[in-house]
Amino acid sequence: MADAIIPPVIHLRGLEKRFGLGDAEHYAINGINLTIKNGEFVAIMGPSGCGKTTLLNILGLLDRSYDGEYELDGQSVASISKRKQARIRSQQIGFIFQNFNLVPRLNILENVALPLIYKGVIRTKRLKIASEILRNFHLNEREYYMPHQLSGGQTQRVAIARALVNQPSIILADEPTGNLDSRASHIIMEELSDLHKRGNTIIMVTHNPRLTTYASRVITMLDGKIDTDTKFNVQQQIKRRKKPARKLKRKKK
Ligand SMILES: Nc1ncnc2c1ncn2[C@@H]1O[C@H](COP(=O)(O)OP(=O)(O)OP(=O)(O)O)[C@@H](O)[C@H]1O
Ligand SMILES: [Mg+2]
Repeated sequence: MADAIIPPVIHLRGLEKRFGLGDAEHYAINGINLTIKNGEFVAIMGPSGCGKTTLLNILGLLDRSYDGEYELDGQSVASISKRKQARIRSQQIGFIFQNFNLVPRLNILENVALPLIYKGVIRTKRLKIASEILRNFHLNEREYYMPHQLSGGQTQRVAIARALVNQPSIILADEPTGNLDSRASHIIMEELSDLHKRGNTIIMVTHNPRLTTYASRVITMLDGKIDTDTKFNVQQQIKRRKKPARKLKRKKK
């Protein structure tokens, strides 16, 4: 019943994205039809250059030049003004970028609190909320560090904390654990998994098949198209999560 009333969060029809002109022209996205419902946790995989980041940029309203239709929460994105798109982006969408950029002259706490400015939260409250989320990521002792004083993995965790501080309902993550060791990856994936359980929609690009076991749906892309699209129920998800660990043990013998 609810499905009939609530529109999908994301609906793409005939999405195409071209780069270059003349002989150099090529399709980074070459005809994607995709519907993502509220509360799905989608993992996207595929070889380098197949269009994953390009797709996330379009979904996150960062790239407006494409062909085809994109409906966000049932509304055609083409009909939403630039101003309103910017508001949606800052309040509803959390972006975890492949190349996380912290502001170098702000300390960690201020970096994480930054997105709350756009929500109109007062400074003391901003810093309090940022401090709480940093604690979840085991970074509370680094609050007053500057970005250049952190390791690559710590920087990535701060960038993720910053993407989540606004409590966005849609989280777009481009290889969120790319630079992290397995323990740190686990902390991030548990955090994303928690957000998923609380009803948020997550779309995550990863090269690591083990991390797709947290997702309820795995999409593989090839040459700008969707190659495979598989959904898993909760039981299957639990099974999948146990499987790779056993496989890994066997390999070690
Ligand atoms: N600004 C651009 N100008 C021209 N071509 C681009 C541009 N951005 C991306 N491309 C091309 O579009 C294709 C898809 O790139 P994209 O960054 O989406 O790949 P990806 O799947 O995210 O790869 P990776 O796994 O390496 O991050 C590639 O062939 C890339 O060279
Ligand atoms: Mg990419």
